[in-house]
Amino acid sequence: MQRSRVKDILNREAAGGPVLVQGWVKTRRSSGAVSFIQISDGSTLKDLQIVVEQSSPHYALVESLNTGCSVSVTGELVESQGRGQKYEVNAQTVQLLGPADPEEYPLQKKRHTLEFLREIAHLRPRTNTFGAMARVRNGMAYAIHRFFQERGFQYIQTPMITASDAEGAGSMFRVTTLDLQEPPRRDGAVDAAEDFFGRPTYLTVSGQLEAEIFALALSDVYTFGPTFRAENSNTSRHLAEFWMVEPEVAFCDLDGLAELAEDFLKDIFRYALDNCAEDMAFFNQWYDKSTIATLEGIINSSFERLTYTEAVKLLESSGESFEFPVAWGLDLQSEHERYLTEKRVGRPVVVTDYPRGIKAFYMRLNDDGETVRAMDVLVPRIGEIIGGSQREERPDILLERMQQAGLDAANYWWYLDLRRYGTVPHAGFGLGFERTVQFATGMQNIRDVIPFPRTPKNVEF
Ligand code: 4AD
Ligand code: MG
Repeated sequence: MQRSRVKDILNREAAGGPVLVQGWVKTRRSSGAVSFIQISDGSTLKDLQIVVEQSSPHYALVESLNTGCSVSVTGELVESQGRGQKYEVNAQTVQLLGPADPEEYPLQKKRHTLEFLREIAHLRPRTNTFGAMARVRNGMAYAIHRFFQERGFQYIQTPMITASDAEGAGSMFRVTTLDLQEPPRRDGAVDAAEDFFGRPTYLTVSGQLEAEIFALALSDVYTFGPTFRAENSNTSRHLAEFWMVEPEVAFCDLDGLAELAEDFLKDIFRYALDNCAEDMAFFNQWYDKSTIATLEGIINSSFERLTYTEAVKLLESSGESFEFPVAWGLDLQSEHERYLTEKRVGRPVVVTDYPRGIKAFYMRLNDDGETVRAMDVLVPRIGEIIGGSQREERPDILLERMQQAGLDAANYWWYLDLRRYGTVPHAGFGLGFERTVQFATGMQNIRDVIPFPRTPKNVEF
């Protein structure tokens, strides 16, 4: 007989028929002459109840089962007499696949703290919370591909090892095979010419620059892959390794890009509500009772548009006492972003046209010479979820901006070539996938929405 998934069993039209099901024991209890085992195989949040009669030859084994062990069960699918489930399995055979010593198994019936669960990230997928997390993450990843594929965007795989700093912000991890004890030296300095690639290389902070290459040939493209940032930020919204979705569109300006971002966010949130309903209800009940209402609100609202200059004026006249200063020319901090989207507007806000000094070299310079065509999308609780811009397509201005940013133009010769040969207006953004899942589930800490978080001093598993 073929194994059936718990999810498929519970979705059947009617009871009846033999089933083979396999999974991990959540709980087991005896009552009168029967034993009840709740098993989970991770295909759904729901457990399947297995009923074993005392007269069964397997009863003694069943009595010894405890939380965490794995079992294989055959039996008859029947309508459940008990409350809380539609069907249950009347067991014919129960086989122990793998024991889990109850004295040692770290996941007990009680509710564990999220901090403790991070220390056992190899077992936390078996909890309701992390099973639900994995399924919502999966659903949203699928929704992202679906959104772009349905709109004719090509999925591009950009390199993870790179020689250029896409953001010009210098927070990159070095990639090297040199002997760190005794690296080859030339004129006192480490000789990168001896390294694997013959020059300094890093893990990429963004696939944008390479995505631009493809946008300037295929028009509508996107990337979806891991990115790495060696920022020493120990916050609830920063990871050293995170996944980013980066659409890049040719013949598009900032207004077109903002529209795309709004449609995109609404579409993937709608997908999560419709297709991960059970798991979303779980997060809404146990983690943040406003999660679903917030998502519904966003899907049904239109995003506010503010320029950076307008945003600064609103912040200055807000009467709030912020920890960080507000003044034209300073970057917006998370507390400012949250004030704007949560208190001031109550909806997502697209802030545009930031001062050139606080944004990356590739953003298109406005006619005022002071601001660039940047765009950040801010959402309640998280702040910045998307960062993007219209790109500088004029070669002379781009070169100037690179020099001002202290970048070596020789490293970006190919990026400049794109402006020398058939340049066109184009724009793109990056969506932080973990921040998106964090927002959609109402989870407080970004470490709890990625299977194995990488943060400063933390790289177990
Ligand atoms: O605003 P960022 O730095 O933009 C870029 O990297 C552009 N190259 C994107 C583009 O235009 N193609 O990052 C984009 C998003 C942020 O809005 C945020 O959601 C997320 O990536 N992000 C992080 N998420 C988790 N941990 C970090 N350390 C993050 N840094 C950025
Ligand atoms: Mg940003």
